[in-house]
Amino acid sequence: MGELAIETVNLTKVFGSFKAVDGVNLRIEEGVIFGLLGPNGAGKTTTIRMILGLLKPTSGYVRVFGIDVEKRRREVLRLTGYMPQHFSLYEDLTVEENMRLYASLYGMGRAEARRRVEELLEEFMLTEYRDRLAGKLSGGTKQRLALAVALLHRPRLLIVDEPTAGVDPPLRRYFWEKFRELKEEGVTILVTTHYMDEAEHCDRLALMSRGRVVAEGSPLEIKRMAFGGDFLELEVEGDPAPVLEEVGAKVVDSEVTGDFVRVRLLVPDAADYLAPLTRELERRGIRVIRAYPVSVSLEDAFIKLTAPIEAEAVAGCRR
Ligand SMILES: Nc1ncnc2c1ncn2[C@@H]1O[C@H](COP(=O)(O)OP(=O)(O)O)[C@@H](O)[C@H]1O
Ligand SMILES: [Mg+2]
Repeated sequence: MGELAIETVNLTKVFGSFKAVDGVNLRIEEGVIFGLLGPNGAGKTTTIRMILGLLKPTSGYVRVFGIDVEKRRREVLRLTGYMPQHFSLYEDLTVEENMRLYASLYGMGRAEARRRVEELLEEFMLTEYRDRLAGKLSGGTKQRLALAVALLHRPRLLIVDEPTAGVDPPLRRYFWEKFRELKEEGVTILVTTHYMDEAEHCDRLALMSRGRVVAEGSPLEIKRMAFGGDFLELEVEGDPAPVLEEVGAKVVDSEVTGDFVRVRLLVPDAADYLAPLTRELERRGIRVIRAYPVSVSLEDAFIKLTAPIEAEAVAGCRR
């Protein structure tokens, strides 16, 4: 197991009488792309602000690369790049001036800053806009500038809060290519998103709902958690029921047309079951016409995982 880039322990934030973040425990290993997901108001931004030391936790604590954020915040900020949810650069400074300003805030020397700014202008296709006021840029260009600024000091950890919200698909793809490149270079990335197709690109995910982490794992693990396994679909000629029962495959749906049976199964691991199950059916004289794993969407998994919590909240309101 690698070093932990981020560790939060019982992280909690209460605003007045409202618990925005409720006992969040995250362990994010160095070098991964970690997605924090959840509907609006789930507590993602509040969690991020505590990780960065911008907001003091009500209780619990955060360590970034083993460093206590509350005690040694400056060190943490030097290691971390942050792209906030809303554009927060100086709208009345030009692209280049914003970059220069942040380079000096990060404590970079003049020569190094000049080199790095040129490099990033080029990398993020900002060269032609260098003298444009940040406030006059289009949404997508603003986002590219915000990411470039977050990367000025070559952080080991990049935290991006909904970087692709309201961004067109080509630029979304571009951002994800960048994230993968950064990961290749060893940068750890914590990203929040609403887009489930983006969540599939993450190595690990935590799903937040009403201030709590309700599921954590790889995209595949989360789907298994939601449904209790993987789905397989079989089309066979003959009755597969005895074999299916023997191997512990649960039939969740079936359709019989004459001698043909189509069944949907729930198994602990689709990759482990597919070939042996097909062989066993054939051995027992049941012809297998088709057998394939059925992919479920993360969206379905999340709805399944959060439905009980939402239902409880609604019941709570009625009481
Ligand atoms: N400074 C604040 N004061 C009071 N309530 C806040 C404050 N910041 C956030 N909240 C509330 O905390 C909840 C979580 O917000 P947030 O962390 O922004 O969620 P998300 O980023 O997942 O959309 C929301 O209900 C929001 O209104
Ligand atoms: Mg947010």
